[in-house]
Amino acid sequence: MIKVRSLFPILTSHPELVYLDSANTTLKSDLLLKALAKYYHHHLTNVGRSSTDWSTWITRQYQLAHQDAGELVGAKSDNIIFTYSSTYAINMVRYGIQHTLRPGDIILLTLHEHNSNLLPWLALAKQTGAQVKYMEELPLSDLPMVKLFSYSLVSNLTGEVYDYHNLTTQIRKQGGLVLVDATQAVPHLDVSIDRLNCDFLVYSAHKVYGMTGLGVLYIADDQLQSLTPMVYGSQTFSHIDRSDYNLLSSAERFEPGTPNIEGALGLRVGLQLLRAFRHREEALGEYFLDQLRQHRLDRFLIGSTDPATRHIPIFSLAHPTVHPHDIAMLLESQQIIVRAGKSCADIPAQHLGETRGVIRASLGIYNTQQDIDRFITGYKQALNRLGG
Ligand SMILES: Cc1ncc(COP(=O)(O)O)c(C=O)c1O
Repeated sequence: MIKVRSLFPILTSHPELVYLDSANTTLKSDLLLKALAKYYHHHLTNVGRSSTDWSTWITRQYQLAHQDAGELVGAKSDNIIFTYSSTYAINMVRYGIQHTLRPGDIILLTLHEHNSNLLPWLALAKQTGAQVKYMEELPLSDLPMVKLFSYSLVSNLTGEVYDYHNLTTQIRKQGGLVLVDATQAVPHLDVSIDRLNCDFLVYSAHKVYGMTGLGVLYIADDQLQSLTPMVYGSQTFSHIDRSDYNLLSSAERFEPGTPNIEGALGLRVGLQLLRAFRHREEALGEYFLDQLRQHRLDRFLIGSTDPATRHIPIFSLAHPTVHPHDIAMLLESQQIIVRAGKSCADIPAQHLGETRGVIRASLGIYNTQQDIDRFITGYKQALNRLGG
């Protein structure tokens, strides 16, 4: 059986490294470095600019990356736009729909949103006079005023998976829009835009073993024409003269200028790895939970502990007296890397009563049972040393 660890240079350079921060960003593989080297050594040119062999090759790779990115969520490549990150993709939608909002309209969020799916909407509400409300507190009578529901399919703090099928169906039926932040979902779950019934969906390449600097935005057919582009430039128009232009009707209208070519190559490699190895995580997630229970550390877990709640392998531990940054530093001294703090989820942390933050351990395709054992031992030792 292939040792997935051996595919990641940082793990081979640091054999003792236990990387438990994949929800933050995933490690980069040798295959990714090789794909970049192939481009730099043998094909370096821009996409879509000429009919030379090199340009044809890289243009094809760039198109295939859109196809792969779409397939991951059951979408056609025609509906996929590459941006810089999930954050940027959400902001493209914010900008693109701002002209449709009126004072009194409701932008609906949830209390488990990452800051990147919160701030853009608070800003939009300020700008338009619309109001931000939270699904958990929404009176039914307000539902008809919802113009946009933007929610994360998975909490990046607790790993809980959410299903709002009935709500999204109702909101879309009455003409509201639905955006799904699938940034933490796609690394672990089968995601389908058909099942989600959404207008927009976003995720980031660097969470699926690709590079930073590339985000994916799915836009449903009927929104492709009505969303106002945030950035204008070359490669996006069917006609241009001294005083006017016509934008392309396809998704390319949203990708002006030279794109992140390396990011697209990296995404293709990352998705290949994800397809090959993602299935290993489920058992490992169960092992993690089991070990937390055996060592009585599950009492520090935040979020729902109901066994019926669906989870991806993200575990956040909040100790009542020991500060998470102190624990993280002691873990790092043993080459165990975790996230400490609020994980860019300030409102969810507040909602769960965690003002100091947590230690978050999240799994990726390269993790092993030994990594989890090392974490459990290291966490207990840190608590002992810090008087917890
Ligand atoms: C749920 C969620 N949404 C959005 C983001 C923002 O992603 P990016 O930093 O790639 O823009 C993250 C990053 O952790 C996230 O976990």
